[in-house]
Amino acid sequence: MVIPERKIEEVRSAVNIVDIIAETVQLRKRGKNYIGLCPFHQEKTPSFTVSSEKQIYHCFGCHAGGNVFKFLMDYQNVSFVEAVKAIAERVGITIEYHEAPPTEEQTEQEILYDINTVAARYFSNNLLQSLPGEIARSYFEDRKIKVQTQRIFGLGYALQDWDHTVKFLKENNIDLEKAKYLGLIDRKDNGDYYDKFRSRIIFPIFSPNGRVIAFGGRIMDKAAVAKYLNSPESSIYSKRKSLYGLSHSKDEIRRLDKAILVEGYMDLISLFQHGIKNVVASSGTALTEEQVQMLSRYTKNIVVFYDADTAGVKASLRSIELLVRQDFYVKIAELPTGEDPDSFVQKYGKDEFDEYIKRAQNFLEYQTAQLEKQGKFEDPAQQTDAIRELVQSVSFVNDELKRSILIKSVAKKFNLREKLLESELEKVLAVSKHRSELKPAVKEVAIEQERSLDKIAVVKEKSASPVERDLIKLLFEGDKEIVNYIFTYIKPEDFSNSTVRELAEVVHEANLHGENILPAVLIEKITDEKVKEYIINISFDKYVLSKTWEDVRPGTAENIILQKFARDTVRNFRLNLIETELENLHNQIISSKTESETQELLETKQRLIHERRLVQKEE
Ligand code: CTP
Ligand code: MN
Repeated sequence: MVIPERKIEEVRSAVNIVDIIAETVQLRKRGKNYIGLCPFHQEKTPSFTVSSEKQIYHCFGCHAGGNVFKFLMDYQNVSFVEAVKAIAERVGITIEYHEAPPTEEQTEQEILYDINTVAARYFSNNLLQSLPGEIARSYFEDRKIKVQTQRIFGLGYALQDWDHTVKFLKENNIDLEKAKYLGLIDRKDNGDYYDKFRSRIIFPIFSPNGRVIAFGGRIMDKAAVAKYLNSPESSIYSKRKSLYGLSHSKDEIRRLDKAILVEGYMDLISLFQHGIKNVVASSGTALTEEQVQMLSRYTKNIVVFYDADTAGVKASLRSIELLVRQDFYVKIAELPTGEDPDSFVQKYGKDEFDEYIKRAQNFLEYQTAQLEKQGKFEDPAQQTDAIRELVQSVSFVNDELKRSILIKSVAKKFNLREKLLESELEKVLAVSKHRSELKPAVKEVAIEQERSLDKIAVVKEKSASPVERDLIKLLFEGDKEIVNYIFTYIKPEDFSNSTVRELAEVVHEANLHGENILPAVLIEKITDEKVKEYIINISFDKYVLSKTWEDVRPGTAENIILQKFARDTVRNFRLNLIETELENLHNQIISSKTESETQELLETKQRLIHERRLVQKEE
């Protein structure tokens, strides 16, 4: 189901984003923009900004942002197509669907999602309706999971025999090889297919957008050793990159600006049923950087509720570095020994659980308590190590002010001189700085050896320079004259940073074909969510233009200021390009072998120096 791009644009331009958002958010005018309290996270001072000019919105607090469709998608939790339809209906535009052939890769992925959806529905029916499903129904009754909750999470049951799922898939004309790829079924040597999930409770795993990407299957026997069977990695499922429950909890996480992290599927489902809905589960494995990054789009506040056993404590401690490094405000909660969030909330209820959330310790307090429990503070020799460990954790904090507050708290607690801890911290920071400086060099060698691997190239990549940032901002001002001016001198491939290059290409492409270059339209063409977020952020960045504002006489028309800014920025960018080239030349000259080669290089150098002079003189 594809809506033609032209139609999407017709619908989008039929409304003003300010009017649509104003229906749910109280907006007031400030400068060129409108501001209000962000509907996606809790705040007291407004950081939610809407631009009528660019037809996009952005929250400086939680980094939500996009055009009018994105707003509806997030606010009403609907798909893109539904958002377009909703607005089309209001303004009386009829949408005719056409079957534009999607790319092969898209089709392939869509097919896989569809297979999982069909399978999930099948498992759910087994649980809710089938006769043999009684055993699973009574399992959930024992565990006090209501039918309503089973429906919300799409829970299911895989029947006992070896070919129920295979038969069902066949009846529904599903490509069995694809189902095998997804791990729903497998194939014996004699070629027969058989079910992978048998006699298991089924937990569908959803993407943040609510598509079924995998399954977890639990044996009902309490004593089983390997009680879970999970889908294998596939083109639609990566364990490292998925957080169980996020599709159900993301709105509440934004609203409360806080997430609770638990280990298990059942922990999450139980809490949810008790009205604690801002929960995600890491699904047993150690928290990954990708998971943390995903979560950081919704909040930076987290309370970790891992089991109170040794494995749980270890996992909690390990999660600290990852979370703190990504600027999370981390608290760790400890339930009584032997309880997990599921058992606890079932026994004591929501209010008691909320108490434990309130009582959660910040990561440093928690770590201190753990070291205390291990008796590390009793013997002076061990104490030094313990304090060093704490200082190490403080060093993960990026913000200097926060670091010094934490250091003070450690000093106070152990009655130590602050200066002592500070110098210890300095040492740790120096070591980690040294390490991070060393890293690029090491990586560069690897890249030389494996140039073809893009993945590694990404690691090495420099972030966009200030000039590049300025240019991209200018390209996304929606001003045709400026866009044309910039592309007269600069080609998208001149940008050194790949994010920026991708953005420049989007504008270049649209401009070349005479398409609309309004930011709200352009961002629809960006597929990478990270790149999208980057440009929305930049678009609302006040700093860049204000810098120039100061040099211009008050009252100057805005497009004149922009034009002047564009001229300066383009010139700086060109000068940088020439500088880089000169540097390269210089190195080549040093290492050149023959006289004629040197001569040629020197001539090029002269030409460049001449060009540099010309650019410098340009007004
Ligand atoms: N897990 C897994 N494979 C296992 C054990 C655990 O994938 N063999 C993952 C599951 O995602 C599980 C999580 O680790 O949800 C936490 O494990 P546990 O606390 O044992 O699972 P619960 O979901 O709490 O299951 P239950 O309460 O039914 O035992
Ligand atoms: Mn459990």
